[in-house]
Amino acid sequence: MKGIILAGGSGSRLYPITKVYSKQLALIYDKPLIYFPLSMLMLGGIRDVLIISNKETIPLYEQLFQDGAHLGISIRYAVQDAPNGIAQSFLIGEEFIGSDPVTLILGDNIFYGSMEYFHDALKRPVGATIFGYHVTDPERYGIVEFNKQGQAISIEEKPEHPKSNYAVPGLYVYDNRVIEISKNLKPSPRGELEITDVNKEYLLQGQLHVQKIGRGVAWLDTGTPEALLQAANFFGVIEARQGLKVGCVEEIAYNMKFVDDAGFDRLIRSIPQSLYRSYLEKIERE
Ligand code: DAU
Repeated sequence: MKGIILAGGSGSRLYPITKVYSKQLALIYDKPLIYFPLSMLMLGGIRDVLIISNKETIPLYEQLFQDGAHLGISIRYAVQDAPNGIAQSFLIGEEFIGSDPVTLILGDNIFYGSMEYFHDALKRPVGATIFGYHVTDPERYGIVEFNKQGQAISIEEKPEHPKSNYAVPGLYVYDNRVIEISKNLKPSPRGELEITDVNKEYLLQGQLHVQKIGRGVAWLDTGTPEALLQAANFFGVIEARQGLKVGCVEEIAYNMKFVDDAGFDRLIRSIPQSLYRSYLEKIERE
């Protein structure tokens, strides 16, 4: 399974935070936002990752993660010239994906809690799996409608009159056909290759699995200053209470056995003296 993090876009809703750097580098309590989607892929066991962004921001991500070897994973980078739509990820990433299945996660999406829904999706060999998460503001998202038997029957992008409260989060697990399907997409009225059109095509072919995510999982919004503050407070509370970090990619690399004891030690020693390093030293001691 390959993993793509789409982390470009204009981020205009967060101006001036996004005037000089990308939204996905915004601070969520003690780490940049993009650590969370990368953590998600790593916790899914995905070690081959492509980060797609605009050409100004790619060098910053490269500075942040290099080639990923210190985390025991491979991270490559690709440029999206303009925000032409989420589904363009599969055209930009065609060579990277090769003949494998692929998980796409949006670089501004944060998930917290049990990951069973994701692990189940990763085990499914054919088709596509997307998720349904109950929200109060469905007109802001891709929305999935279910029939009485709980099967998905329609998906609409930001509908004026939503048919349900189930939003589709920015986490998508596809078989290799996603490349072909994306190649056949036409730009939407807003000029984008829509991820919702990819999902509609899988639905049409009877190959779309929509898994509801229950209330034990937090899918956090990061689209506004208030949402960023709420996310920061959320993780601040959890980390203060438990003394354990969320979205700490170095710790995850160690727990997932992507790096061994010696690799983890080297990794820690490369980090400047900081609370973050002290935390990792504590993990190493324990
Ligand atoms: O967050 C989940 C929602 O994400 C889904 O429910 C929607 O179906 C899906 O269309 C998307 O909606 P958004 O309004 O959040 O999409 P947005 O254009 O804001 O893009 C999401 C992220 O992807 C954002 O951080 C910017 C990045 N992006 C987006 C586009 C269109 C890119 O890097 N390149 C792009 O071309």
